[in-house]
Amino acid sequence: MNVILAPSQKALTPHLEIRGGRRLEGEIRVSGAKNSALVLMAACLLSSDDLKLRNMPALSDIQGMGEILESLGVTMNRGEGFVELNASGINQSSPPYELVNGLRASFFCIGPLLARTGVARVPLPGGCQIGARPVVEHVKGLKALGAQVTIEHGVVSAVVPGRGHRLTGGKIHLDCPSVGATETLMMAAALADGETTIDNAAQEPEVVDLAGLIIAMGGKVRGAGTPTITIVGMERLHGADYMVIPDRIEAGTLLLAGAITRSKLRITPLIPEHLGAVLSKLEEAGCTLESDGIGMTISADRVRAVDLRTQPFPGFPTDLQAPFMSLLATAEGTSVITEAIFENRLQHVAELQRMGAAIRTQGNTAFIEGVPFLSGAPVTGSDLRASAAMVLAGLAAEGTTLVQGLQHLDRGYDRLEEKLRSVGASIARHDVG
Ligand code: EPZ
Repeated sequence: MNVILAPSQKALTPHLEIRGGRRLEGEIRVSGAKNSALVLMAACLLSSDDLKLRNMPALSDIQGMGEILESLGVTMNRGEGFVELNASGINQSSPPYELVNGLRASFFCIGPLLARTGVARVPLPGGCQIGARPVVEHVKGLKALGAQVTIEHGVVSAVVPGRGHRLTGGKIHLDCPSVGATETLMMAAALADGETTIDNAAQEPEVVDLAGLIIAMGGKVRGAGTPTITIVGMERLHGADYMVIPDRIEAGTLLLAGAITRSKLRITPLIPEHLGAVLSKLEEAGCTLESDGIGMTISADRVRAVDLRTQPFPGFPTDLQAPFMSLLATAEGTSVITEAIFENRLQHVAELQRMGAAIRTQGNTAFIEGVPFLSGAPVTGSDLRASAAMVLAGLAAEGTTLVQGLQHLDRGYDRLEEKLRSVGASIARHDVG
């Protein structure tokens, strides 16, 4: 239940205070990709050599992943924008429930741990606000590589029977192109005996980034970014010094900050191929986009309604559905958004309605009738991307918006309010009171 506060009252929980209606101008730098950095950190378990990852974002999820790896015996050295990991001394322990429960990405440890040591016990990642988040595909794939997997008392226990405890390459077909399952199985296959193919694999850029790291560590991976990935297992993998790709979801969120405030902004770095579906929807909505090979400049004055449906890459990313809905709440005309990836990812609708948005939902579809103005109000983000959507709505709204739920926002956005303030937004963080 959200705390209902009059705008004049200070929210009781940490919040962002946004005075909307201001034009933005300038350039914003995009951080390294959260959804790549997390899985690349887990890949350190595949080797006993040093792994250095650069362009790392400063996020609570990254901190959490570090704690989980350290609980397994990984040593870590954190610096400005980089992390150095070494998994030569990993123990047989399993990451503690209280660490795993808050971070779904901790499940990324099961594949490399099993491949490297022949045994892995990882608590089941909990569901979250947006859905049940099953791991059926991960488990099926590990069994196809020769593991015995049981799930008891909320813990997934996997073991490789027989001499040497080494996984055996095999054919895997995913029932759905799960990003996490594809990444888990790529890491497991990287040290398996023989060749593995993954059919109906996820094609997200983060999957391609993981393939790049495995190759940099001496692994053999072909076809990442296509529906069929082939991995030839190696006896061992060596260390690497590797750069994380820019965060395409943060980049998309920042483009939307320019669009919703009808501003001209340069977002850099931005790889257009990582955001094809989003860029074409922004142009369809009337925005002007110019790529300069490193970054992208967006400008918008009138924004039209568009329809979109979330899909696996290269389709429209579910992680930008909520932020894009904030833009469409202020567009001319009626838009239709269908969330086809997660079963419960329309919770931001109620918060946007509190700000005057005219939205009706029917199952996993939202009908958004654009309004000339949103009005500032106290709102709460229910998950990482819903929180970002509320920040965007606050930038455009008349009056003051107090955005609570910063524990979600800080999981995936590196100093978002500083970045927005640097281009003219009136946005301040109040940690208490
Ligand atoms: C990754 O989650 C991302 N997280 C998510 O980002 C992102 O929304 C999602 O991919 C989809 O792009 C990380 O990379 C850490 P999935 P993941 O397995 O791997 C169903 C954010 O905001 N499914 O591709 O958990 C599942 O229920 C987060 O940054 C099965 O049915 O996503 C969902 O409906 C949120 N069976 C769909 O697939 C399975 O065994 C996509 O899930 C696995 C998944």
